[in-house]
Amino acid sequence: MNNTQNIFLKNNKLNIPIWFLRQSGRHIPEYFKLRNQESNFIDFCLNKELVVKSTKLPLKYYDLDAAIVFSDILMIPWAVDRKVNFIKGIGPQLEPMIPDETQILKNINIFNKLKPLKDSISILRKDLPKSKSLIGFAGAPWTLACYMIEGQSSKDFVNTRKALWNSNKWFMDLLDTLSIYVAEKLEMQANAGADVLMIFDSWSHMIPNSFFKQCGINPTAKIVDTLRSKNISKPIIGFPFKAGSSLINYSYESNVDCLALDWTVDLNWAKKNINSLITIQGNLDPASLIPNKSVFLEKNVLSILDIMKDNKFIFNVGHGLTPDCKINNVKKVIDIVKNYK
Ligand code: CP3
Repeated sequence: MNNTQNIFLKNNKLNIPIWFLRQSGRHIPEYFKLRNQESNFIDFCLNKELVVKSTKLPLKYYDLDAAIVFSDILMIPWAVDRKVNFIKGIGPQLEPMIPDETQILKNINIFNKLKPLKDSISILRKDLPKSKSLIGFAGAPWTLACYMIEGQSSKDFVNTRKALWNSNKWFMDLLDTLSIYVAEKLEMQANAGADVLMIFDSWSHMIPNSFFKQCGINPTAKIVDTLRSKNISKPIIGFPFKAGSSLINYSYESNVDCLALDWTVDLNWAKKNINSLITIQGNLDPASLIPNKSVFLEKNVLSILDIMKDNKFIFNVGHGLTPDCKINNVKKVIDIVKNYK
């Protein structure tokens, strides 16, 4: 198993590495200048110049150990010809899939449509200092299926869960097909120069417990195994958001090298119960970065560091930075982590 922490520590073996989920984007005012150059978000993600600038933007503000390529998990549904739109103030809108439709999703060549992502990664790897790790990513099959079936974000993804109970064979076939595309997308990013790969299962907490292995763990393990069989040995971070007690089995059976934890996880519990061979990433509450005066921020960051200092650990937030998070708070956290002894 890869020691993911070491990959991030190219610059300083003594430090705990740090980067932030959604470190680029709307909390940085300069992002809007870039974003306004394309009206459509998909076109923005396909514009190499803007992708390279957006990816590098947080590194201009912050002393981070990694850059995550600016893109979106919904580029796979788009690449397999589902209609995908991002509507301001509402979020993503997709043409909902109905059971038995998977057939048309099979054997699609996603590489041509995703070539701008590949090219952006090649440019970024040449542009960025060697000391900064470059992260490529994809959505996990379950989370992609959630958006593709529901057609949008949802509080409970009941249509997706209904499809799972109703058309089990169709649903598993869909996850299997999506696993192939996710592996292809990650392979493309690794070959273009990404140092680390991350799989976002943002809606894993919607998986019925009795299906967690089939829908959350097995598709991820299949993706990791496919990449390993293609001699891609780069570290892979899994992020089964709010998976609770299922995190234990995920840490042993998904074959990822690093487990990203959401802000609800007790790190002492994680140390006791999570596969100790795995690197842990997380898990500061991103909401702690919103108030102008966050009284507990420093205490909380120090407490995370105290618990995790002897483990393989990467400091991060437990979910993406929000548009209203304060640049000064992010700087303060980095400062505490970098000066921690
Ligand atoms: O620094 C970074 O991490 C930027 C790259 C990035 C984006 N999306 C940019 C983005 C990454 C890693 C993602 C992943 C992503 N996209 C996830 C997984 C992480 C998570 O949040 O759980 C998910 C679920 C999506 C799907 C998605 N994309 C939604 C639900 C939305 C709309 C909600 C919102 O925040 O507006 C998006 C759009 C999106 N992706 C934006 C950004 C910066 C906002 C678009 C804009 O600028 O208007």
